[in-house]
Amino acid sequence: MPEQYFSALLARVAAAAARDGEPLVDLGRGNPDVGPPPHVAAALDEWARRADVHGYAPFAGIPELKEAIAVRYRDVYDVELDPANEVAVLPGSKTGLMEFAQVCVERGGTIVLPDPGYPDYFSAVALAGAHLGTLPIAPDGTPNWEAAPKQADALYLNYPSNPVAACAPDRVFEQAIEYAHRAQAWVLHDFAYGDLVFDGRKPASFLAADGAREVGLELFSMSKTYGMAGWRLGFAVGNAELVARIENLQNHQFAGVFLPVQRAGVAALTGPQESVEARRATYERRRDRALAALSGLETHSEGTFFVWFRLPDDVTRAALLETHRVAVAPGEGFGENGAGWARLSLATADAPLDLGLERLRHGLGL
Ligand SMILES: Cc1ncc(COP(=O)(O)O)c(C=O)c1O
Repeated sequence: MPEQYFSALLARVAAAAARDGEPLVDLGRGNPDVGPPPHVAAALDEWARRADVHGYAPFAGIPELKEAIAVRYRDVYDVELDPANEVAVLPGSKTGLMEFAQVCVERGGTIVLPDPGYPDYFSAVALAGAHLGTLPIAPDGTPNWEAAPKQADALYLNYPSNPVAACAPDRVFEQAIEYAHRAQAWVLHDFAYGDLVFDGRKPASFLAADGAREVGLELFSMSKTYGMAGWRLGFAVGNAELVARIENLQNHQFAGVFLPVQRAGVAALTGPQESVEARRATYERRRDRALAALSGLETHSEGTFFVWFRLPDDVTRAALLETHRVAVAPGEGFGENGAGWARLSLATADAPLDLGLERLRHGLGL
């Protein structure tokens, strides 16, 4: 297994924080700082008090939850899903990242990952005993398809993307579908930040592209849209054959998601949606402050809760951490193309964010 990027990052930041000096500001970690709206916690509470919910939940999830995500896909992303056959309930979408590789790729196959990309994808490659192929991604999110392997078994894509914070460029999903046919690869689109888009952009689902569901799946996460990261709830939607394979794998290795969590998921998806826009707007406001603070540097942030920025040549992330007491996530951990870049997280309350930005300005010589 590769080193788990975030465990290692957290350990380095904790070690630096323990040393004498000003309290450290951690802009490295992407952990939502605002939880779900009150009616979601109320639904969990109400359902957890019932006597009949503490046994094993149906392994594949309750139909109401699958219907609720299908309604969100229809109303928000303009995608029709058959809830019975095109939706799998996951204990968090990270689990789906690993399962997709298990159900699509034989040992020794090839999995193509975006570079830079989310580091947990490396774990999926290792768990599947697969070879790593690379799809280089420019800082504005544009993939270089020419440089991708000619033959592959699976391709991971992620828009809005972690870490480069780019929304899907024009026609990128159509190009991914063409690649899937050319290379004989399944596609997984990681839509974890789907609703966190800025500057008037609309959320763009892979499944809205013609032919997408013939070649793959999309992962939807409750963590970012509804602030439910610790609740562990997500979905794999799209290709019915792959949904069935994932449900089969989960029948072997899980025993369903706690029923009150599924009911709270229904409450989140079908109840008032004001919190979704409020959360998105909060991140956009913080993004604006971060871009203003870093003006003079090359920065990117069209969505997610990250800003991707180029480090000046003479600045190391270690100096920022040790001398200026502010942590950011080093770009090289996201792939070779991330070298010389860093990611800062906006999932931090306003006061520490402002303090961190001030320290960054000092540290970066702005
Ligand atoms: C790009 C990306 N994909 C997937 C995940 C996993 O999300 P979940 O909480 O649904 O497991 C994350 C979490 O940070 C992420 O950044």
